[in-house]
Amino acid sequence: MKLVLASKNKKKLVELDTILSQLGVEVCSEADAGVDVEVEETGTTFEENSLLKAKAVMEASGLPAVADDSGLCVDALNGAPGVYSARYGGEGLDDTGRYRLLLENMRGQMPRTAKFVSVITCCFPNGDVISARGECPGTIAFAPMGEGGFGYDPVFFVPSLKKTFAQLTAEEKNAISHRGKALEAFQVKLEEYLNNQK
Ligand code: IMP
Repeated sequence: MKLVLASKNKKKLVELDTILSQLGVEVCSEADAGVDVEVEETGTTFEENSLLKAKAVMEASGLPAVADDSGLCVDALNGAPGVYSARYGGEGLDDTGRYRLLLENMRGQMPRTAKFVSVITCCFPNGDVISARGECPGTIAFAPMGEGGFGYDPVFFVPSLKKTFAQLTAEEKNAISHRGKALEAFQVKLEEYLNNQK
């Protein structure tokens, strides 16, 4: 089966591709499927936005489409930036600007606990939907550390490993990350779904 990955974030695509390819599923990008879909993320939950993205790409391509909606929820900031993680601080900021703003907003705040959340949704042309959620707990570091990953990785500290996400290899991150866990749960649901189709 061929799945279209409904994302334009190259680093996120690589993570999704690496994990989904291990499930024996053939994946392709929106460009490979000949579509270029701009989806307004108007939902207020990861579930809603993930469904919006997957549905739009499935409708445009006519193929099953998989989307991830993810973000960082910080306890002391009442769950912010949450579903607005990609837009935190407005359009003018890049990844570095966004995590710097987060560090600024966390100055003097306690606790520094946070979690990454990922919701993976697959929409099929026949209307069927599969969705799975993964979470990864951690804390917000006091300063950025590490060069790997993307987004808020340099400031997301995993206490059990004493490293930020940006200090982990791709394999180490995938093994514990919100996206890795969501994909694990997604794999189980997808296999169940495909078996029921036989
Ligand atoms: P989305 O494309 O709307 O799902 O945006 C998710 C945003 O959350 C990204 O742009 C990042 O800022 C952040 N994010 C999600 N997953 C990760 C991750 O694994 N590491 C770092 N930042 C992430």
